[in-house]
Amino acid sequence: MTAQKTPAAPPCTLFLFGASGDLVKRLLMPALYNLSRDGLLDRNLRIVGVDHNASTAEAFGERLHDFLAERDAGGEGAPKSVDEKLWASLAKRLDYQTGDFLDMATYQAIGERIAKTDHGNAIFYLATSPRFFPEVAQRLGEAGLLDESAGGFRRVVIEKPFGTDLASAQALNACLLKVMSERQIYRIDHYLGKETVQNILVSRFSNGLFESFWNNHYIDHVQITAAETVGVETRGAFYDGTGALRDMVPNHLFQLLAMVAMEPPAAFGADAVRGEKAKVIGAIRPWSSKLALKNSVRGQYAAGKRGDKDLPGYREEDNVDSASQTETYVALKVMIDNWRWAGVPFYLRTGKRMSVRDTEIAICFKPAPYAQFRDSALARPKPNYLKIQIQPNEGMWFDLQAKRPGPELITQNVELGFAYKDFFNMTPATGYETLIYDCLTGDQTLFQRADNIENGWRAVQPFLDAWASGGEVHEYPAGEDGPEAGNELLTRDKREWHGLG
Ligand code: BG6
Repeated sequence: MTAQKTPAAPPCTLFLFGASGDLVKRLLMPALYNLSRDGLLDRNLRIVGVDHNASTAEAFGERLHDFLAERDAGGEGAPKSVDEKLWASLAKRLDYQTGDFLDMATYQAIGERIAKTDHGNAIFYLATSPRFFPEVAQRLGEAGLLDESAGGFRRVVIEKPFGTDLASAQALNACLLKVMSERQIYRIDHYLGKETVQNILVSRFSNGLFESFWNNHYIDHVQITAAETVGVETRGAFYDGTGALRDMVPNHLFQLLAMVAMEPPAAFGADAVRGEKAKVIGAIRPWSSKLALKNSVRGQYAAGKRGDKDLPGYREEDNVDSASQTETYVALKVMIDNWRWAGVPFYLRTGKRMSVRDTEIAICFKPAPYAQFRDSALARPKPNYLKIQIQPNEGMWFDLQAKRPGPELITQNVELGFAYKDFFNMTPATGYETLIYDCLTGDQTLFQRADNIENGWRAVQPFLDAWASGGEVHEYPAGEDGPEAGNELLTRDKREWHGLG
């Protein structure tokens, strides 16, 4: 985690495969800029863009600079304005390697660059299309670039999607592990770079209070929501072959579930933390095909409105099949078969083009055991919630019932809360700062281990399998909170979704 007085990371050459892609300009470069602003990059850190388009260090730098400057207005994580002096010092670190990912000459050229450094440290960041992950990894291995015997570290960062189902994720892991060790692999889930996600563990395990009620004796159920207002934007082709389940659940939503549900690790080291996460995801009950259908809802947005603005339906988006059955919304009910959570349902939902942007975890507590004030309006106690808002209004709030002042016994919902902005001066961050810094310093705690990834796919595989042969995709109007069937998933259990926003 980055904080003031954090030491600069060791020197290294950071190779960005897929340098002309979106991820590099939208997230990685702003994150490197922010790390440089905070003095966390070593003087000898070099950043080399690798891509097949012929370009130069200067042109690569200009493109990144222009993008940062364009986002001055305050895009997420972007600096408020580009500090030109700071940029100039960052631009000096940039270089560019034109090269085809499939051509061994590219890897030879990379090897020559590393050989010229004193430290020999290198990170290969695969910000490429997933079809290149095995290809690049295999060639890095063949070229001897993953060999650490001369002393320098060699690490590979892999973006999502990590496979498209259990079998493909297992195959990708096997392919990577043939040419490198698990210690060298940094599988990114950008949710783990979010301060609010990291804070779940700190809140749970640094405050004695939480553990006393964090179990099936006091918690009725847990809701995890990632609602987005955006549609598929320019990613229609990718999204249409992927869908909301694959895009968000085995990775981001399960990370949130793991943070809420895992047991306290014996230490805050990478192996202990990842071991506990693997256990809890591994404890998700595999539904039979019939129950997978019963406990899941798929939706797809149709045309709708936000305010006065007309919003197109999913099937009208660019590069989307006009008869597509791909889900843009999914709601699931899962059970965790362990002592802490037996009998506590976890309801998960995520959707595009919903009414508000809101990623939150709502822990719903069991109501008071009986109606204390039986002859009053308080006859049926309401449950209390703890809302952990990941974004955009970061913080945590307990939702309590209080007596409204006055002669009558009338209750009102009140909140006991902590908003990040009231306590911390948060500098703009993309969420990738911590992840890049941790990779440079060799801390794998916030990265996914092979078993974390495979257990995630194992838990969603029953839904994928059941949907392949059955179930319905429900329409919902763009700008609204998913299909009615998504609400029924809870109302049939006599529960309801916590209000968004
Ligand atoms: C990405 C998904 O991994 O996460 C996108 O591919 C999604 O479809 C995004 O929009 C959500 O991330 P965040 O940080 O905006 O919640």
